[in-house]
Amino acid sequence: MDRRIPKPRDLAPLIQFKKPTLNLTARRLADALTIADLRRIAKRRTPKAAFDYTDGAAEEELSLARARQAFREIQFHPTILRNVAEIDTGWDVLGGRVAQPFGIAPTGFTRLMQTEGEVAGARAAARAGIPFSLSTLGTRSIEEVRAANPSGRNWFQLYMWKDRERSMALVERAAAAGFDTLLVTVDVPVAGARLRDTRNGMSIPPALTLRTVLDAVPHPRWWFDLLSTEPLSFASLDRWPGTVAEYLDTMFDPTVTFDDLAWIKSQWPNKLVVKGIQTLEDAKSVVDLGVDGIVLSNHGGRQLDRAPVPFHLLPTVAREVGADTEIVLDTGIMSGADIVAAVALGARFTLVGRAYLYGLMAGGEAGVDRAITILSEQVARTMRLLGVTSLAELAPRHVTQLSGRWQVGG
Ligand SMILES: Cc1cc2nc3c(=O)[nH]c(=O)nc-3n(C[C@H](O)[C@H](O)[C@H](O)COP(=O)(O)O)c2cc1C
Repeated sequence: MDRRIPKPRDLAPLIQFKKPTLNLTARRLADALTIADLRRIAKRRTPKAAFDYTDGAAEEELSLARARQAFREIQFHPTILRNVAEIDTGWDVLGGRVAQPFGIAPTGFTRLMQTEGEVAGARAAARAGIPFSLSTLGTRSIEEVRAANPSGRNWFQLYMWKDRERSMALVERAAAAGFDTLLVTVDVPVAGARLRDTRNGMSIPPALTLRTVLDAVPHPRWWFDLLSTEPLSFASLDRWPGTVAEYLDTMFDPTVTFDDLAWIKSQWPNKLVVKGIQTLEDAKSVVDLGVDGIVLSNHGGRQLDRAPVPFHLLPTVAREVGADTEIVLDTGIMSGADIVAAVALGARFTLVGRAYLYGLMAGGEAGVDRAITILSEQVARTMRLLGVTSLAELAPRHVTQLSGRWQVGG
């Protein structure tokens, strides 16, 4: 083979040095290609107690691990030679348009993860045309969220407290602020055992113990943000000195029943969705009450450990009640492909909790934008590779599960 000395002219087209980005956060976020990448950045940037509060689940964390595993065990069945140049990733959900088949799940204590908190999520959701859900335990007020997402869709998540009047006062505020959907969470009669939180001595607001002071050293930015912005307060309550679990136990009402649900329904003027359905029987019972939707969810594995995997329940529940109610699915979603699989098996919509929070912890509002972009691109690419141009074309034939465990709870 003849060799020659390369000329600079020949090298020029090969050289593709990236233009340096001066904004470090932007560079870090642009390098994140998956939600798992965002999670790694989030872990580096966030004190252990706050990261573990988000990342962790109940007891041995089997519910969460199994839910994520169920999505990994998906096998897709593509159709070929379709024109997929133009696709539509949106449709109508609970009486309104969504640009993507996912929205932001309600999460408590969000400003603890990153001080921008719910406002970052609501703004990013507004830009993406997807709903934002505010938790009863949210760290921004109903009105602040409305201001951050003034023309988009906001959903309010209700925990029925022992103090009924206070919880209904919140619901009235949400209705007045134009929130179009109420998610009533029913899987927290008591708090789950989040062992990481107990071991970390996690408290709200974070206490300055020797451990947290030492932890502050590698995370100066997080602590600076926390201490230099307005003190952590809640949409619905005042400061609390104990652990999260203690707080939740004093708040939640273990006496709530189906009668209370019927009562809440009679009080709320807009769409009502029950979040935390984990059996077909319960799905049927709430559909009989006339609710507009259900969320198949085990609370991201944060309540009953070894609870049914929502994705496994989906085909049966969709077959039995899918014609009468809209089915939303959450728990374990880490990619747009998971979302597409859920829609193929009968979900009208999905919610993402940690996927959004990893983005928030990795880079505030820009990090949430990045998380939504990653998921949206994965949704679009998966649809195209499956040979479909609309969500309505997705069908059970597009997905099987390698382990074949379909009938759990059915
Ligand atoms: C840090 C954190 C806080 C949460 N707080 C609430 C809450 O206040 N109310 C609620 O209904 N669900 C809450 N959830 C559950 C989420 O709404 C959702 O069901 C769950 O995160 C979905 O699982 P994923 O995180 O795997 O997406 C929380 C989840 C996380 C991770």
